[in-house]
Amino acid sequence: MTRVAVFPGSFDPMTNAHLDVARRASGLFDRLVIGVLNNPKKEPLFAIGERVALIERCVADLGEHVSVVAFDGLTVDFARAHAAGFIVRGLRAVSDFEAELQMALTNRKLAPAIDTTFLMTALEYGYVSSSLAKEVARFGGDVTPMLPGPVAEALADRLRMTPRV
Ligand code: PNS
Repeated sequence: MTRVAVFPGSFDPMTNAHLDVARRASGLFDRLVIGVLNNPKKEPLFAIGERVALIERCVADLGEHVSVVAFDGLTVDFARAHAAGFIVRGLRAVSDFEAELQMALTNRKLAPAIDTTFLMTALEYGYVSSSLAKEVARFGGDVTPMLPGPVAEALADRLRMTPRV
């Protein structure tokens, strides 16, 4: 049986915590589709194509069974479109759990055959989030422990172009 999982998120931008989860999931599933949500209601720092391209660079060494795809609409529909039986989400701390449980139970109601699997991020990334990294970078702090190299570079470039975002 082929085990397929989707790993959905906003990834604005991908952090080391996300990458750590993607790496762990890539070892568990036969196919892993990282889904980048194109949410017209949000104003991301990185456009959808930029986020996809950055993630592709970050996960290039994980293998051919890992792909990156933009999506909109429901995560369960995205999972079904890729014949995925699993949704992967990362947990950093207990504070993530409540919202993740609500999402997982909503998704189960919508698609009972699809299970959400939670993977714990490495301890050293327990504090890392995309929004925190953007804030630190905006004020000139060092984000290299939080972000994969290509993402840290892209963020520095973006903030140089638009210092007030
Ligand atoms: O990286 P994020 O912002 O924590 O990811 C949240 C995401 C994209 C997984 C979630 O917002 C989502 O699944 N959005 C798609 C819409 C959807 O399916 N909503 C119902 C499930 S909560």
